[in-house]
Amino acid sequence: MTEGADGECAPVALGEVDLSAHSPMPTGIGEMDRVLAGGLLPGSATLLGGEPGTGKSTLLLQALAAMAAGGKRGLLVAAEESAQQVRRRAGRLGTDVPGIFVVEATRLSQVEAAVASLAPDLVVVDSVQAISGTEVASPAGSLAQVRACSHGLVSLARACGAALVLVGHVTKDGALAGPRALEHLVDTVLSFEGDRYTSLRVLRAVKHRFGATGETGLFEMGEKGLTGVPDPSSFFLGDRLVGAPGSALTVPLEGYRPLVVEVQALVGRSSPVPRRFVTGLDPGRVGFLVAVLEKRAGAPVGDCDVYVSVAGGARACEPAADLAVCLALASSLSGKALPAQMVALGEVGLGGELRRVNAMAKRLAEARRLGFRDALVPSSPERLAARGHADVARERSRELPAPTLRDALSLALGEGRARRSALEEEPVVLVGDEQ
Ligand code: TYD
Ligand code: MG
Repeated sequence: MTEGADGECAPVALGEVDLSAHSPMPTGIGEMDRVLAGGLLPGSATLLGGEPGTGKSTLLLQALAAMAAGGKRGLLVAAEESAQQVRRRAGRLGTDVPGIFVVEATRLSQVEAAVASLAPDLVVVDSVQAISGTEVASPAGSLAQVRACSHGLVSLARACGAALVLVGHVTKDGALAGPRALEHLVDTVLSFEGDRYTSLRVLRAVKHRFGATGETGLFEMGEKGLTGVPDPSSFFLGDRLVGAPGSALTVPLEGYRPLVVEVQALVGRSSPVPRRFVTGLDPGRVGFLVAVLEKRAGAPVGDCDVYVSVAGGARACEPAADLAVCLALASSLSGKALPAQMVALGEVGLGGELRRVNAMAKRLAEARRLGFRDALVPSSPERLAARGHADVARERSRELPAPTLRDALSLALGEGRARRSALEEEPVVLVGDEQ
């Protein structure tokens, strides 16, 4: 649309809409540009949400520096920290570069003045909860203030053509003290997640008007700030203890990216009430799998204490990881390690049947890239009947198809012989009958 002298808007043929001003500016941070589908659009507004301490300020300081290195002018509105603190951090990160300007401001009018005098390409407001305007009487950080100021900042960015990034703190219970209420105001919502006890950080697009939202960026927080993790599978498998019982590999999708991760399980002697401790997986799903293992696959884990986690701070919250969780549990119970070069993919149903998962080819390709040549995958009974279990196992083929969880345990842990449990003196039959 073009605006006439009298304020009327004239329609423009869609094919003639000018796109030249709308190409994204790369931030220069590869993992961030991947999530943003190329970079930040001039005049657009992005909200970066995350819990305090995840590294939002660090990420944006690095982005400001990378953009400054590419000749863009960046303004950091420091509403929470002093300019000295910002400079000190920049020095530590090695991002103390020309082209980054900082202003200590907590009022909307101060930000407007700074933007007008500097004409930056990128404006970072850290954080939006610390900015207040005069029109609203409520205190800084209140919903009304955060909304009104964000509105003002978004309009400012649109008018001056700068890309705006607002930092918004999110609390653990999801009450983002504002940001969730801002999602409709901005073009893009990014969330930055990570647990403070691990160095892994994940950047996700929750909403993106200019691209897909499925991409994720992975970073490692170190002494010199954040570094991208271009090969996450290798990162997650770095400390793997090969040949240990209770360890199974699977390939969840992180956004569109398949990652090979290690599911670790420890099945212990039961306390009066069996305990469940789960990290990186859905605890409800693990409870379900424990029940299916016990009822459908003859692996008596229901009465035991069960600890399951995904190594390296990774997550595998999708049904494709079911089979690996079951294998890890059964492996821990029997004290027998799974084949070291095998990944497992499959959803487990209530009847103990294995169901196929989406994007199988992509997941298997990632496993092969890392040298894991065998994959235990679901298969129809007809296909198996045509080939025979033992043949499939002996062939050491790339795919070891199994129609049920019981078959999968049999293929991965042995041919159904009774095994002595690592926990008890009594032998525990894991799979099938004695042969
Ligand atoms: P910060 O960017 O301040 O987080 P946020 O803005 O999301 O609150 O960084 C948070 C933590 O990251 C801080 O506790 C210290 C740590 N950190 C590093 O480990 N390495 C670094 O180089 C920097 C700058 C911070
Ligand atoms: Mg901060």
